[in-house]
Amino acid sequence: MAVPWWKSTVVYQVYPRSFADGSGDGIGDLPGLLDHLDHLAWLGVGALWLSPVYRSPMADFGYDVADHCAVDPVFGTLADLDAVIAAAHERGLRVMLDWVPNHTSDEHPWFVESRSSRTSDKRDWYVWRDSPPGGGPPNNWLSNFTDRSPAWTRDETTGQWYLHCYLPQQPDLNWDNPAVEAAMHDVLRFWLDRGVDGFRADVVHLIGKELDRDDDPRHVANGIPHTPLNDVAVTHERIRRIRRLLDRYPSEPPMVGEVWLLSTRRMATYYGQGDELHMSFNFPFVFAPWEAGALHERIDRTRAELDPIDAWPTWVLSNHDNPRVRTRYGGTLDRARAAAVLLLTLRGTPFLYQGDELGLLDAEVPVGARVDPGGRDGCRAPMPWTAEPPHGWPSGTWLPFGPDPAGTSVTAQESDPDSMLHLHRRLLHERRSSAALSHGSFAWLPAPEGVLAYERREGEDRRWVLVNTLSDRIDAVLPGLGTVVVATEKGVEQHPYSGYLGPDGAVVVRPS
Ligand code: NOJ
Repeated sequence: MAVPWWKSTVVYQVYPRSFADGSGDGIGDLPGLLDHLDHLAWLGVGALWLSPVYRSPMADFGYDVADHCAVDPVFGTLADLDAVIAAAHERGLRVMLDWVPNHTSDEHPWFVESRSSRTSDKRDWYVWRDSPPGGGPPNNWLSNFTDRSPAWTRDETTGQWYLHCYLPQQPDLNWDNPAVEAAMHDVLRFWLDRGVDGFRADVVHLIGKELDRDDDPRHVANGIPHTPLNDVAVTHERIRRIRRLLDRYPSEPPMVGEVWLLSTRRMATYYGQGDELHMSFNFPFVFAPWEAGALHERIDRTRAELDPIDAWPTWVLSNHDNPRVRTRYGGTLDRARAAAVLLLTLRGTPFLYQGDELGLLDAEVPVGARVDPGGRDGCRAPMPWTAEPPHGWPSGTWLPFGPDPAGTSVTAQESDPDSMLHLHRRLLHERRSSAALSHGSFAWLPAPEGVLAYERREGEDRRWVLVNTLSDRIDAVLPGLGTVVVATEKGVEQHPYSGYLGPDGAVVVRPS
C-alpha cells in the first residue's frame, strides 16, 4: 500500500513575519516567502506549515484571526497566497495552513456582533456567562499570557463575562453551537478548494469544554492556565466530524493537531481509532532535556502509546512558542547538530522550525523592544539570509537578529560544506532516498550510557543511527560493519564507521 505523503515527509514550519520580507517594511510576508521557496526546495523538505497569515489585529501575531478567509495586508493578498501555493506545488512542496478553531480576534465581525447585545444573532457564537451569586468571574479558569489572570473578561456593554483561554483579545468560540462548527468547517473547505494540502490545527483540544463544571482545583494549586488541563470527551466527536470532512476530499488532506496536553497518553487519544487527527504534536518530547535517558524514555513512551493504535508520531524540537533547540540544549552548535540527526531519523514526521537548519540561537531582545505578550520574541528572530548586513532585510526587522547573523546566515553556510545547513541538507537527502529512514520500522540497538542507538528498517533497506548526548568521546559498537552516510563530525562520511563517537557526535550508518 502506498505510504501517504505526510508519513514520509519532513514539514518545515514557516513563521512568516520572520521568514523573508518582500515589501520592505521590516516584517516578513508572502512575497518574501515566494522569493525564498527555492531555499526549501534546495534543502529538501517536503512540505511547509505556514503560521497564520489571515487578517488580524496581531495582538497574538496572527493567532487572533479577524477574517479566516482573507490575508492580512501586512503579509500581502489572497493572490500572493495563491501564488505561494502554486509555486510550492511546482517545486514539489506541500502546503499546510494553520487553522485556528478555538478562538477569534475580538475584532472578528462575529464577535463584534456577539458582544453588541444579549439578544444579538451571534450572541451564542461565543461563551457568555453571568457572575455567580457572589460576584466575580463564572469559574476559576486562568488564561495564557496574562500573568495568571482569569480566562474571563466582563464586557461593559451587556454586563456578562466572555471566555478567553488566551488574551482578552482572543474570545473563545462556542463550539456547542452547531452554527459555529459549520462556519469553521466552511473555513476548511474554503482553503481546501484553493489547493491547500493539509492543516495544522491550533490548540484543537480546546474545541470541547465542560464549562459549567465546578471550579478546577488545579488552577488554584499551581496557577497554571486552563489550556493544558482541558481534555473532555465531546472534543473527540467534533474532531471526528472534521476528519469526515477531510476524508471527503480525494487527496485526503491531513490535519496535525496542536494538542497542548503535557501527557503523551492523553495526547494519543486524539488520534481516535484512525478517525480523528492524522498526527498530533507531542509536547513531552519537546521539553525533554538533552540526556539520552530522558530522550529514550520519551521516545519509548511515544511508541508505547501510539504503536498499538497504529498512530503516526510527530517529532518537534522547536517552534515559534518555545526556546529554540540549540538554546534549550545549552547553546553549542555541536549539540544542535546531533539533535538534528535525532530529529530527522526518528520514525514519524519531523517538523523542522525555520532557522533551526541554520543552528540559530534565540535572540536577546532588549526590554524596550519586546512585543510578544507571551514572552516568545527570542525564538521568533528573523532569518539571516545574507552574511552582509542587512542580512537580506532591506528596511530593518521587526525583531532583532539572534547572535552572529553573518556567520549563521544562509549565504555563509551555503558556501561551507561542513555547515549546519549542509548537514540538514544531507540528512534530508538521505531520509528521502532511504525507505528505512523515511517510513521504516524502528528498533533500539544496545548502547553505552549517554548514547541513543537505533535501527530503521524497511525490507532490505536499513540504517543505524548513533547519537552521543555526552560531552566526551565514547566507544559505541554497532551490530556489524557499515559506512557512515551522514555525520556531525567532519571528514568521516563515506568511510567505515570507526567504533567511536566524538563529544555530542552523531552518525547515520548504512550497514555493509
Ligand atoms: C498556539 C500557538 O502556537 C500560539 O502561538 C498561540 O499563541 C496560541 N496557540 C493561541 O492561538
